[in-house]
Amino acid sequence: MKKRLWWRDGVIYQIYPRSFMDTNQDGIGDLPGIIEKLDYLQDLGIDAIWLSPIYPSPDVDFGYDVSDYRTIDAKYGSMRDFDALVRQAHKRDIHIIMDLVLNHTSDQHPWFLDARSSRDSKFRDYYIWKDPRNGKVPNNWLSIFGGSGWEYDETTGQYYFHHFYKEQPDLNWRNPLVRKEMLDVLRFWLEKGVDGFRLDVFSAYFKHADFPDNPRKFIGLRPHDRMRHIYDTDQPEMIPLLKEIRTLLDEYPERYAVGETFMATYKKAAQYCGDDLLHAAFSFEEFLGGKWKASRFLKAIKTWEIILESKCWPNYVLNNHDVRRSASRYAKGQDDARLKVAAVMLLTLRGTPFLYYGEEIGMREGMFKKKDIQDPVGKRYYPFYKGRDGCRTPMQWNGSSFGGFSSVQPWLAVNPDYQTRNVQQQAEDEHSLLNFYKELLHLRKEHIALMRGDFEAATNMPSNTLVYFRCVVEEQIMVALNFDERPKHLDLVNIGGQGCDLLLSTHVKPMQSSSKCSEYILRGNEAAIFSLKMFD
Ligand code: GLC
Repeated sequence: MKKRLWWRDGVIYQIYPRSFMDTNQDGIGDLPGIIEKLDYLQDLGIDAIWLSPIYPSPDVDFGYDVSDYRTIDAKYGSMRDFDALVRQAHKRDIHIIMDLVLNHTSDQHPWFLDARSSRDSKFRDYYIWKDPRNGKVPNNWLSIFGGSGWEYDETTGQYYFHHFYKEQPDLNWRNPLVRKEMLDVLRFWLEKGVDGFRLDVFSAYFKHADFPDNPRKFIGLRPHDRMRHIYDTDQPEMIPLLKEIRTLLDEYPERYAVGETFMATYKKAAQYCGDDLLHAAFSFEEFLGGKWKASRFLKAIKTWEIILESKCWPNYVLNNHDVRRSASRYAKGQDDARLKVAAVMLLTLRGTPFLYYGEEIGMREGMFKKKDIQDPVGKRYYPFYKGRDGCRTPMQWNGSSFGGFSSVQPWLAVNPDYQTRNVQQQAEDEHSLLNFYKELLHLRKEHIALMRGDFEAATNMPSNTLVYFRCVVEEQIMVALNFDERPKHLDLVNIGGQGCDLLLSTHVKPMQSSSKCSEYILRGNEAAIFSLKMFD
């Protein structure tokens, strides 16, 4: 049996610190708030926390515009609080993953302030500056947040490039000094004892050295989508850089890096992970959107399985701070039945599951009027696109004012359903989504096949069901998910072997399976996990 590895066998929980728990009553979550909730997280059964950025930031992009990579923003606490968080988390066997935003800095970072002051600044070449082309922008590259990717700087008469907001100038990764600065940043946090990193849009670090126009395409909603991004992302120089990053990580025991592949297909994401590259890379093709349909998920799972082969370990994500919450995408009204099925799928596939705060209580997407929107991209595209505030509302801890998140008006309004949907209320209800997540997370830890087993999908199963096996030599598990409201009859004659035990079902009183396990009626919205007894 291979040694237990926290990032491969465990479950990672993403915290958006602004919205998790406020202890100093300024309406913004903080590190002491996270420390206060560590017992809750331990009890829930997670193995690691990924913290969205907590570095000083002017917050144009809420922390994804960093103005100092080596300190903690005072609104979240101090370095002492951070050290205490690492210590306290480790005590509970919870690992800490930092979000590193190294594609760009804030325009308020001292490097950029200096760089834009003069063409002779020693930091000028830390960023990407170009002369106008025929009095206009240097090429046709766009910002994903809207408009040209180039911003003209009056003082020095050149344009700088920004993939995101103009307040997030892209770094020039071809400059060896930038490379060195950033590798030192990684080392700084490794020395502080953090267990890993999530690399924000890493695949965009390098741009083509000649800055050619990107070819256009004709399908896509926003102008940015109607472009083939072959020159502004995914350049070959990324591979040697990842190798260097991995070598650095491997100097420390059991460190981990997961990359957010920018605009990734499964194929793109897969090329960046492996034994000497990233441990894992996100691809957001299917699981973060789309319809509630078994065949759609199965197709995505199979694609990911085939593309990754044995080269790297998969990961699965239903939520993050950039997309509409899965509860609002999949649940019917306030009914959590489908969310339990989604939870079983997420936590029993072959790969590391990522949870996002509030997912365990089925937090729904917040709704905002135009005047209350905080996310600049939402302000720009309202009402066509309302931005990302909806998935970033404060955690709903209890039914007291502001959901127990804070005693003052939070930076973003709490979802008005907090009185009926919160941690305290769900903790007291044995059939709640929260208690189901807990049971599932603990079951996962007890079954090696669920953590490490191979994946194989069953064939000839009823429509809109998903049935698969997770197997290691010593244990075989079958997972059956019904995405339909109607019951489905599973014929298990050739599957059950010597019989099977039902380990867990989403339904309160599971239907009796015959001891031979030759059939099972999956009720509407039921997910069930069986341990198969095999012939010796
Ligand atoms: C990533 C982050 C997103 C941020 C962007 C720019 O996609 O997840 O929140 O706006 O990078 O840093």
